[in-house]
Amino acid sequence: MCGIVGFIGDHQAAPILLDGLSKLEYRGYDSAGLAVRNGTDPAEVVKTVGRLKNLAEKTDDGKALPGCCGIGHTRWATHGEPSQVNAHPHVSGNCTGSGSGKVESEVVGVHNGIIENYKELKEKLIRNGYTFYSDTDTEVIIKLVDYYYKKYIQDPIDAIMKTMVRVRGSYAIELMFKDHPGEIWAARKGSPMIIGVSDGETYIASDVPAILKYTRKVYYIGDLQCAKITAGDVHFYDLNGDEVTIEPTEIKWDAESAEKGGYEHFMIKEIHEQPKAVEDTLASVIKDGAIDLSECGLSDEQIKDISAITIVACGSAWHVGMTLQYAIEDLTRLPVRVELASEFRYRNPILDPRSLVIVISQSGETADTLEALRLAKSHGIKTLAIVNVVGSTIAREADNVFYTLAGPEIAVATTKAYSAQLAAGYTIAVHFGFVRGTIDREQYDAYIADLNTIPAKIQKILEDKERLQWFAAKFAHIRDAFFIGRGIDYSTCLEGSLKMKEISYIHSEAYAAGELKHGTISLIEDQTLVIGVLTQNKLYEKTVSNMVECKSRGAYLMGIASYGKYEVEDHCNFVTYVPSIDPHFSASLAVVPLQLLGYYISIARGLDADKPRNLAKSVTVE
Ligand code: G6P
Repeated sequence: MCGIVGFIGDHQAAPILLDGLSKLEYRGYDSAGLAVRNGTDPAEVVKTVGRLKNLAEKTDDGKALPGCCGIGHTRWATHGEPSQVNAHPHVSGNCTGSGSGKVESEVVGVHNGIIENYKELKEKLIRNGYTFYSDTDTEVIIKLVDYYYKKYIQDPIDAIMKTMVRVRGSYAIELMFKDHPGEIWAARKGSPMIIGVSDGETYIASDVPAILKYTRKVYYIGDLQCAKITAGDVHFYDLNGDEVTIEPTEIKWDAESAEKGGYEHFMIKEIHEQPKAVEDTLASVIKDGAIDLSECGLSDEQIKDISAITIVACGSAWHVGMTLQYAIEDLTRLPVRVELASEFRYRNPILDPRSLVIVISQSGETADTLEALRLAKSHGIKTLAIVNVVGSTIAREADNVFYTLAGPEIAVATTKAYSAQLAAGYTIAVHFGFVRGTIDREQYDAYIADLNTIPAKIQKILEDKERLQWFAAKFAHIRDAFFIGRGIDYSTCLEGSLKMKEISYIHSEAYAAGELKHGTISLIEDQTLVIGVLTQNKLYEKTVSNMVECKSRGAYLMGIASYGKYEVEDHCNFVTYVPSIDPHFSASLAVVPLQLLGYYISIARGLDADKPRNLAKSVTVE
């Protein structure tokens, strides 16, 4: 959470920093700030509360902050309320007013992450004469760097290394030292940070979209490493202060994919990009009608030897795991458990040595998922990560990686990455089933043929979105919604319900349809919206019965059914249809109307669907 950017080169820094922050606002958006240096002058800091546009206004789109070297930050508050004084950058010395103005301090910096031992460090620094102005853990790390810088030999590397040894927690920090004009210093542990270099200019950011427009040559700074960044150059150092070599990576994403491209919001754009995200992800492993997972590093021998699968993830990625549990168990007959990473990591799980742990993450940086991966590895368990962001920490640490090809996802509420994760998981289910002999050649070919129809079928659903827009406007005022289904339809309900609540702030719950009677049905009142997902042929009549039980108590019923199941209309007040597909893969289609419903209800309520309150896209704190 929180986004950081930095720039040093021949151009004015502030407009570039503001532009970069605009691509990272999904990481946090309760306050923002810049520190820019003009030549050897001290840095000037400007901070504002609220969205980035306030900072752009206050700095006249950056024109009021001259200088070619600077750092910037967009915040998602952890320690200290969203306020100007708590906004970054923070300084090592005295702070005037709420923190904006010329910096006379030695060190100015921004930070993404959490310093766990900040209280003890703060007390130490207070004892050494430091005064604190904000409630943040960041001010502690900046002042600690200053403390070591002054105590020892006035060398940034030494000061940063000593600080890194002393702090616990996660951080990506950028620092400017008054005595070192023309340099930005950076360090990281746990939190993401990339450094991009082009002719005579260097860019720093939490994530690729912020610098994609300027360069594709990107360095991933390692954990517990620090970097000295100058115009067009970067040098990396390990914890001993010895220089290390990092090879650059070429980013393949195109720059337009990080722009709205004429859509009102990233979310609706990304909903429309789902056919391509799924098609590209499937095409990366389906070659000449066969699934080839060799690039993920899983040999047939290894697959045959697996005794069980544990899927670990957070948020929507966990919902993908829930869907895959049904599909993988059914197609491979391997036992599959699905775990929330935040629970798994503290539960001392029992893992068979021959089992496989699959972690799923769009960002590849989610703190709990990363720790779950590390826990599995520490047990000697083989790990496979399904990840979207190339070079992310989870991708680097997992034994094997299956990259989803969804491209950059900016809206906080995931859509296309979720769909790409499902597609990746289906290919694992079908391939494992075939290799382990639980499905035969004919079934294998049929499943692959069906998988390849998903992109066009999603496209077809998108062409009928106006009806859902109308329905959303009609139901935008509701207080509660319930999503019910059985089997894979239940897992789709989990995602549909999350999509609605996170961006429209309507209370919603997903329930296994058969469980409703065990308590939740007492919440059904006149005109309560109950949405039933009805794509599982074997189960849909049972779910319809549960829906009818709700209708008898006053509910308004919406159904999502497969083409041809028109008798559903005899019971539901409103039905939307999705193309038929093998039931193992139906979540990929049934989720699309639910994404559209969540989006259009949010819009009808006048909300910002891309940046729902209190949320951030990449959750790098536990
Ligand atoms: C946040 C996002 C969700 C996402 C979850 C897990 O809560 O808003 O959309 O599903 O994090 O993120 P990951 O990057 O690990 O998939």
